[in-house]
Amino acid sequence: MDFIELSKKRYSVRKFSSQKVEDEKIEKILEAGRLAPTAKNSQSHKIFIIKSKDALEKIYSATPMSYHAPIVLMVCYDKKTSYKNTADTHYPDYDGGGVDAAIVTTAMMMEATELGLGTLWARGYDSQKIYDAFPQIKDLELVCLLDIGYPAEDSSPSERHFMRKELSETTVEL
Ligand SMILES: Cc1cc2nc3c(=O)[nH]c(=O)nc-3n(C[C@H](O)[C@H](O)[C@H](O)COP(=O)(O)O)c2cc1C
Repeated sequence: MDFIELSKKRYSVRKFSSQKVEDEKIEKILEAGRLAPTAKNSQSHKIFIIKSKDALEKIYSATPMSYHAPIVLMVCYDKKTSYKNTADTHYPDYDGGGVDAAIVTTAMMMEATELGLGTLWARGYDSQKIYDAFPQIKDLELVCLLDIGYPAEDSSPSERHFMRKELSETTVEL
């Protein structure tokens, strides 16, 4: 599928069906993230795959932004290995870990779309509740959740999906 068509097909799914997501599809989604570029190839991200009943119950209790998806990826990065640009005099504390994790998440989101799955990128949670529920991420920076599953039959894009600014509002030719 043409990338613009794929981009139009993707929308934030907030109601998932209970249909199981095939393991091969999860593997492909993770592979798309693995192939994504990161600053200086630092690959400081760590993705936690939440799919067991026990782990899903924990994430559902920690945040409604998990939308009862059958798979939730918790995307983190490690400050110890993320890209820093000490030569940047404007942003001397620049840490590329968040941007890199977002690039990885975007690649996974679009691969999931290509595979006919729905996704929701979530950041509207209280991080503390997620850190409390998952001590495994205590030394990492939590960037986002990526909820994944087959959309429910009555799932449809919210009106925001169709509200994009004109290019003239977001681009400037110099
Ligand atoms: C960084 C980021 C954080 C987001 N956090 C949430 C969230 O916590 N809850 C939610 O329902 N949607 C969340 N969204 C989805 C956006 O609201 C959505 O992408 C936007 O309104 C455009 O709609 P569309 O994805 O259907 O095209 C988030 C999206 C991004 C990119």
